[in-house]
Amino acid sequence: MPTRSHSLAVLPGDGVGPEVTDAALEVLDAAQQRFGFTTERTVVPLGAEHYLETGELLTEDTVAQLREHDAILFGAIGSPKVRPGILERGIILALRGAMRQAVNLRPVRLYPGVPTPIAGLEPQRCDLVIVRENTEGAYVAQGSTVHRGTPARTAVQESVNTWYAVERAVEFAYRLASVRRGRLTLCHKTNVLVEAGSLWLDVMEEVGQRFPDVETDYVHVDAMCMHLPVSPERFDVVVTDNLFGDIVTDLGAVVQGGLGVAASGNLNLEGTGTSMFEPIHGSAPDIAGRGWANPAGACLSLALLLGELGEGEAAATVEGATAAVLGQLPALAGEAMGASTGELGARIAAAVAEGSTSPVPGSLMGQLARVRTA
Ligand code: IPM
Ligand code: MN
Repeated sequence: MPTRSHSLAVLPGDGVGPEVTDAALEVLDAAQQRFGFTTERTVVPLGAEHYLETGELLTEDTVAQLREHDAILFGAIGSPKVRPGILERGIILALRGAMRQAVNLRPVRLYPGVPTPIAGLEPQRCDLVIVRENTEGAYVAQGSTVHRGTPARTAVQESVNTWYAVERAVEFAYRLASVRRGRLTLCHKTNVLVEAGSLWLDVMEEVGQRFPDVETDYVHVDAMCMHLPVSPERFDVVVTDNLFGDIVTDLGAVVQGGLGVAASGNLNLEGTGTSMFEPIHGSAPDIAGRGWANPAGACLSLALLLGELGEGEAAATVEGATAAVLGQLPALAGEAMGASTGELGARIAAAVAEGSTSPVPGSLMGQLARVRTA
């Protein structure tokens, strides 16, 4: 039987990006060995150093090159040497747009044994998925400023919401909810952003007719900031606009143990571009090079990537191994973890190789496979 082979573009990026990516790649090596597939990996040098050396952000050529790959594994991008907004817009947002990564999938799951700052929160109460619309909202319009340098300086920054993009995100969220616990919450701010809000509500209603078994709910984004930490069990799948999704997923990350453990998948839903998988955390230049970054977010993003490639068993095993190693740590970030980024990667890789940990029950990886093949 021919071996399954997948081609990966690896974008380690800046700061702690390369460290957590190395750890994830060691885990990938173990998964390949155990589950009998191979990957061909191309490292693409996008990020601050590359920009400072060449002046290049995401070019047409790089987009064409990335298109040839089955998936993109992304570390983190950003550096104090480059003004905020340049790399973020020129690389990350450009990639999400060019590859038509319509949704940004961000699981919020508290694994057993993992310390959370929310007192008394048991793992069984925290297992939700946030589906963030990934190409529009406040992220699309570049905005404009007039009367710069005068007291009349005026900045305009609008949010764009197309039926097309909102429908894609909402439809995906319904499908995911229908293979999970059958509950979908729209998170928005319809009491103030009435134009965008009513478009989202109308899409929810129209698409919902095709999913009679999914129960729906609505929560304002400000109220979400209370409900998410206090009663995460209220949520199964949450669908939301790009900027709200950016904000509430950092909150979600904290609930599940911190930014270092949160994963994401930027998914192209139609086969018109390559999906990209990245930990939610940034490049953390202040701790780069010390081995203090938690590689769990990168490893769980790898698990999502493996699910995307159809390596479901490997995906669930990487998730289970990462969850088990995380659950034994005294702290989730910095020196207090008691082990370096590399050591943690090696521990997760060993657990994958030995098959010493079990897949988590009700794993998102299996649910995604069902959504993607439906
Ligand atoms: C994220 C990040 C990005 C975003 C930035 C770096 C552009 O915060 O992936 O959540 O706002 O989407
Ligand atoms: Mn963010």
